Amino acid sequence: MCGLVGYIGDKQAQPILINCLTRLEYRGYDSCGIAVSSNEIRVFKDAVRVKVLEKAMPRLSGTLGIGHTRWATHGEPSQVNAHPHCDCPGRIAVVHNGVINNFQTLRQKLTKKGHRFVSGTDTEVLPHLIEEYYDGNLEASVARALKEVEGSYAILVLAVGEPKLVIARRDSPIVVGLGDRENYIASDVPAILDYTSRVLYLEDDDIGVVTASGVRVKNNSSEVRRKEHKISWTVEDAQKGGYEHFMLKEIHEQPKVIRDTIGGYAAEGEPVVELAATGEYELGDVLILACGTSYHAALIGKYLIEELTRTPVRTELASEFNYCGRTSAENVSIVITQSGETADALKAIKRLRGEGCRVIVITNVVGSTASRIADRVIYTRAGPEISVAATKSFIAQLMALYWLTLPYSKIDTRRLDNLITELRQLPGKVQQVLDQESVIADCARQLAKFDDVFFIGRGINCPVALEGALKLKEVSYIHAEGYAAGELKHGPFALLGKDAPVVAVVARDHTYEAMLTNIKEVKARHSPVTAIIGEGDGEVEELVDTIVTVPRVEPIFSPVVNAVAIQLLAYYAARERGCPIDFPRNLAKSVTVE
Ligand code: F6R
Repeated sequence: MCGLVGYIGDKQAQPILINCLTRLEYRGYDSCGIAVSSNEIRVFKDAVRVKVLEKAMPRLSGTLGIGHTRWATHGEPSQVNAHPHCDCPGRIAVVHNGVINNFQTLRQKLTKKGHRFVSGTDTEVLPHLIEEYYDGNLEASVARALKEVEGSYAILVLAVGEPKLVIARRDSPIVVGLGDRENYIASDVPAILDYTSRVLYLEDDDIGVVTASGVRVKNNSSEVRRKEHKISWTVEDAQKGGYEHFMLKEIHEQPKVIRDTIGGYAAEGEPVVELAATGEYELGDVLILACGTSYHAALIGKYLIEELTRTPVRTELASEFNYCGRTSAENVSIVITQSGETADALKAIKRLRGEGCRVIVITNVVGSTASRIADRVIYTRAGPEISVAATKSFIAQLMALYWLTLPYSKIDTRRLDNLITELRQLPGKVQQVLDQESVIADCARQLAKFDDVFFIGRGINCPVALEGALKLKEVSYIHAEGYAAGELKHGPFALLGKDAPVVAVVARDHTYEAMLTNIKEVKARHSPVTAIIGEGDGEVEELVDTIVTVPRVEPIFSPVVNAVAIQLLAYYAARERGCPIDFPRNLAKSVTVE
């Protein structure tokens, strides 16, 4: 949540900060602001999008500055609550991601000492606290102040007359982009791709000093070296490339994402890499944790692993796992997190590791916090995902799960070879779904007329139904529920009728007959039904009102083609309703608070 940026060098900071913030808006977009320092600190901020702020802004001269785009946690979106926040004389400015848990106590203490607060945010205690200890050494005063802070933070601090930026993190990411006589700071990489591909990541409790010529980092008062990484993502990866929205571009990138992700594990003809073969893991009981869309990938992983390996799998929402009493007895724990920064996922990894479990992380972001605290990382190769709604990262996660599972499968070699061959053909199958775009868009325009929609599926496609509902509600604001098809009659039937359409995700597997029965039950209650079906499925076609056909694939791969169809449905329903598709209200891309 929230994005932060900083610049120090020999160029004017203002246009650079604005450009970086524009690239970062997917992290939060209810308000934004920048502070530029020369002889004084000048702040300009408001509860508007970056483009609007840019137009309204006077010229702020200076080659050192910080900026922020906000996703409100404490205090409504407003000008006064927007970052940067300053101490009262305006000598120190701070931007912050995260949550200061003890801000009330700190605020009371500082108020008694004469500090005057103007905002409703937790962040505002930081500049005041730093000012309290400031005696000309900014780094020391930040370190002293942070000793009193409980919670999570990534902060950038500047002070009048100090040609440096002080940065610090705990449980919230910061990346430093290295330039030539200039340096950049951001909460994540896409913000600075225009300027550099050389980066280093701060670790928890690091405090750094960034000048135009270098970066010094300390942890627990000792000097530490943070490794330089080369980013392979390009600026074009993080741009719309002619598409109306990032979401549509990212949906269309999925054939390539599948190819890149699988190709990253083994080139065609190479043997499937088996973790067990490396002596690292025996696939015993498995625990998979994740949030949101990644959780739906986890659920598909459960069906997949249980079906192919007969190994029991427990899946849990990372946010709930963190509060369940049971310690984990599973011998393989997998955490799936696209961003690698989701607070609940990170907390789960730390808990598991604290309990002595080895954790495999599936993530899309090289160098993300999750990748650095895991025992083993399996990277997906989706490239930067800018749209808040996850699409290509989800498909890439499925690829990672297939790749992880297939070598352990208890099926004969011939079938395994066939599955691997078909896995490699998925880019073409997904392209066939994309070729149906105009038909799916027509269906979506029909769905967009309703206020309530149900998605149903069974077996490995039940999570696709859940994902369909999540996607539709987040981008189109249509109320949608995803259900295991057999569960509708245990309550939701009461809501069916001509105003409550149902999208049925049908696969030609052992769930098929039961799905037909469920569709008939729904039709008998007058709900219009759209079915996502494999080519040539005349039986379902006769039962329903509208169909979306997807290519026939092995049932275990059906979630891939079906998911692409539901993504397009959600996208076009949202477009029909005129929604801000890439930046849905109240949401942000990576959820770095609990
Ligand atoms: C929905 C969506 C979210 C994320 C969730 C987890 O489209 O994007 O539900 O899937 O916030 O994020 P990661 O995978 O980064 O942990």
